[in-house]
Amino acid sequence: MIIAIDGPAASGKGTLGKRLAAHYGLAHLDTGLLYRAVAYELVQTGKPLTDEAGAVIAARKLDVDQLDDEKLRGAPMGEAASKVAAFPGVRAALVQLQRAFAARPEGAVLDGRDIGTVICPDADVKLFVTASAEERARRRHTELAGRGDPISYDEVLADIRARDDRDINRPASPLRQAGDATLLDTTKMDIDAAFRAAVAIVDAAA
Ligand code: DC
Repeated sequence: MIIAIDGPAASGKGTLGKRLAAHYGLAHLDTGLLYRAVAYELVQTGKPLTDEAGAVIAARKLDVDQLDDEKLRGAPMGEAASKVAAFPGVRAALVQLQRAFAARPEGAVLDGRDIGTVICPDADVKLFVTASAEERARRRHTELAGRGDPISYDEVLADIRARDDRDINRPASPLRQAGDATLLDTTKMDIDAAFRAAVAIVDAAA
């Protein structure tokens, strides 16, 4: 069974993806980490985030088993990832890697922005997870503060709005709900309620 989860930044899709994967005994790929790793490689090697050729080379070299979570997390790398994710060459370089991950015999859970629309258009279940920008900013701010990041709520909200704008309005594989995806608005749900709602959607579709 392939479960495709898409949605904007900080919608809770990553946590949901992880929990759904554990629940159904499937592997999980947080595809945002791929774009974050490309941006990280540019920054580490002193290249600007506008360097499309450098970003494509970094994308081709990526190893899906070598995605170090900690150094890729955090607001600056998310912002940087959404810039390199707009390059069509970067997206093209990452398509096969994501499809190969999804092609394992038992299936997989993938979350991102274009999983249901581009990467796995034939997924068994498609979820589009969203929440208001204010609620997403509140959650992300709480998470960052918990890690000792002094960023303010207003800065987090501005970052989320800028990222939504870039992810929705880029020409290459923009963030949008697939026609056959089920919308899950988690604005008024905690993670347990969102998980129960997601399981009900998956069980009904599978
Ligand atoms: O899900 P995330 O916040 O870790 O993603 C970081 C950025 O990567 C996001 O702003 C847009 C980009 N991204 C993408 O374009 N396509 C994906 N499938 C996943 C992420």
